[in-house]
Amino acid sequence: ATLQAVSAGTGQAWSCASCHGAAGEGNLSTPRLAGQPAAYLAKQLEDFRSGLRHNESMAFVARALSDEDIAKLARYYAGIELRAKLAPSLGGNLERGKLIAEKGDWKSNVPACFQCHGMNGEGVAPGFPALAGQQPDYIFAQLAAWHAGERKNSPQKLMDDVARRMNPDDMRAVSDYLGSM
Ligand code: HEM
Ligand code: HEM
Repeated sequence: ATLQAVSAGTGQAWSCASCHGAAGEGNLSTPRLAGQPAAYLAKQLEDFRSGLRHNESMAFVARALSDEDIAKLARYYAGIELRAKLAPSLGGNLERGKLIAEKGDWKSNVPACFQCHGMNGEGVAPGFPALAGQQPDYIFAQLAAWHAGERKNSPQKLMDDVARRMNPDDMRAVSDYLGSM
């Protein structure tokens, strides 16, 4: 199933590519979808559709999708291989970011990101998304949203607990580092 076919099937004027890029690579605050675990992508689309995860653009999009569309789109994006090393955009301290990603910060009780997101941030199916090569602005925005209690769809509140303990400088550092991997 091609993306165009699914978008056309919904009868909508938009396409995923118009916001997420031709290869699902994302753009600034729009996330990379390429190569994410299919089950993770499907869950996010379901959560946007049900309102458990809030975003105006994605609520509009997801409400037009059937369960079958969601399954197809999730498979489509999961199947695109992409290893992008993105330029840091937040002025974060990359060494500090690497330390947090690999070892966490014991002083503030922040676990290593790679404990859950894969040894190299490549993601772990079904539920842990890749962070390596994800858009730094987007990573930062998600951490800030969890910190503020605005993103509520993490299973067992795992990410709420991580982000609540992080300060903005560390969020910038880890976001820039992960994006650049
Ligand atoms: C987020 C899929 C169309 C803008 C997401 C996410 C998924 C997704 C799975 C969450 C990714 C993650 O958690 O890593 C899709 C699909 C589309 C589509 C399959 C087409 C059917 C669009 C369009 C726009 C858009 C047309 C712009 C108008 C965004 C934005 C986010 C997002 C801004 C981030 C939301 C946030 O900050 O929480 N999309 N998308 N998407 N999408 Fe889409
Ligand atoms: C999702 C960052 C540590 C479990 C995410 C996302 C980000 C992120 C940005 C959203 C990705 C997206 O929307 O595409 C980080 C960072 C960490 C960290 C920077 C280290 C400081 C952890 C740890 C765990 C974990 C230690 C497990 C205990 C998860 C889960 C999700 C997730 C389950 C998916 C949430 C959902 O389904 O909505 N993480 N993470 N993360 N993270 Fe982490």
